Amino acid sequence: MPLNIKMSNMKKTVHLDAPDIGSIEKEQICAAIDRGYVSTFGPLVNEFECRFSKLVGVERAVAVQSGTAALHMALHVLGIKEGDEVILPSATFAATLHAVLYVKATPVIVDVDRDTWCLSVDAFKAAITPKTKAVIPVHLYGNACDMQAITSIAGSKGIFVVEDATESLGTLISGRHLGTLGDIGCYSFNGNKLMTTGSGGMMVARSSAVLDRVVYLINQANPRQDRQGHQEVGFNYRMPNLNAALGMAQLSRFNGFMALKKAFHQIYETQLGKSGWCVLQKSYPDVEPSWWFTAVLLKNAAQLLQVQEHLKQFEIPCRGIFKPLHTFPYARAFQRGSCDHAQMLYERGLCLPSSTLNTEESIDHVCAVIKKVFA
Ligand SMILES: Cc1ncc(COP(=O)(O)O)c(C=O)c1O
Repeated sequence: MPLNIKMSNMKKTVHLDAPDIGSIEKEQICAAIDRGYVSTFGPLVNEFECRFSKLVGVERAVAVQSGTAALHMALHVLGIKEGDEVILPSATFAATLHAVLYVKATPVIVDVDRDTWCLSVDAFKAAITPKTKAVIPVHLYGNACDMQAITSIAGSKGIFVVEDATESLGTLISGRHLGTLGDIGCYSFNGNKLMTTGSGGMMVARSSAVLDRVVYLINQANPRQDRQGHQEVGFNYRMPNLNAALGMAQLSRFNGFMALKKAFHQIYETQLGKSGWCVLQKSYPDVEPSWWFTAVLLKNAAQLLQVQEHLKQFEIPCRGIFKPLHTFPYARAFQRGSCDHAQMLYERGLCLPSSTLNTEESIDHVCAVIKKVFA
């Protein structure tokens, strides 16, 4: 049977990054509602924080309203302020940049590594000045930055390391979870992430005192609502209990999510990566990536368009790689050095269906459709 007929006969819904919500989630959300734990009042956030900290192997974690809030709080509690410089990669979601701008520091946008698509260690080194106070290694799509090099350079220069692990929960470097290797680690539970709380985030830190201060600040800087009132400007970045209930249900399925993400990546690697006309993200030797998203880099922009068009015909969703930060009108002045690799990822990169609502069979189907473009 010709491939195109076979494919049109087996039309199925393929999901790009849709959340995987099932009966456990529904039960736990209803139970939280029945117990009256809907708002920030209730024990579920604490329980969620404890379970999460066990997962990533730390003593303590603090839940917040989003990954963006986590990044903002991280820079705020470290005292990063106007006049300070913060180094970050160009290939990331805007939230990384926005957190730097919230604290009025100067973003220093540098390139990513050509193969891992994560912060270039050389570019980081070259961008350091006496004003550099922090670096934000962004672990893109479930891959990991070269944390050994980054923490060692940062340590020798007194630079804080704030890990943007929003896309890389579950990724290990030499057995240690991403997010736990710098001064502060930030995670996101946005609806498209490996696990979700609807919207939400989590913070871990080397210093417990830092987390104490986060708890204080995210509670409008008056967590006990005492009569002394508010001593400084605080934030309402607390996670509601309803979201924590969803988070705990998702945590109970975490290993299953991880196994599927890795299986999907393996299929893409075998069927597309070995084809020679596209490449997948590469990892450093000691890294076990979660592969939250599998993305490919096509040979040129024309090929990318061709693949996108073809996938559209089969109603298969896909998404380009982030528009580089240094091309944003309000961020152009912050570019330091060439950002050619970030630009290349934008012009030739494509994120493929990676939601755990898919099956291995549907990922096979995606590969078969893509392969037809090059047949
Ligand atoms: C790299 C990166 N940083 C930060 C964020 C912000 O997380 P949130 O959407 O939970 O605010 C996201 C995505 O959502 C992201 O992909």
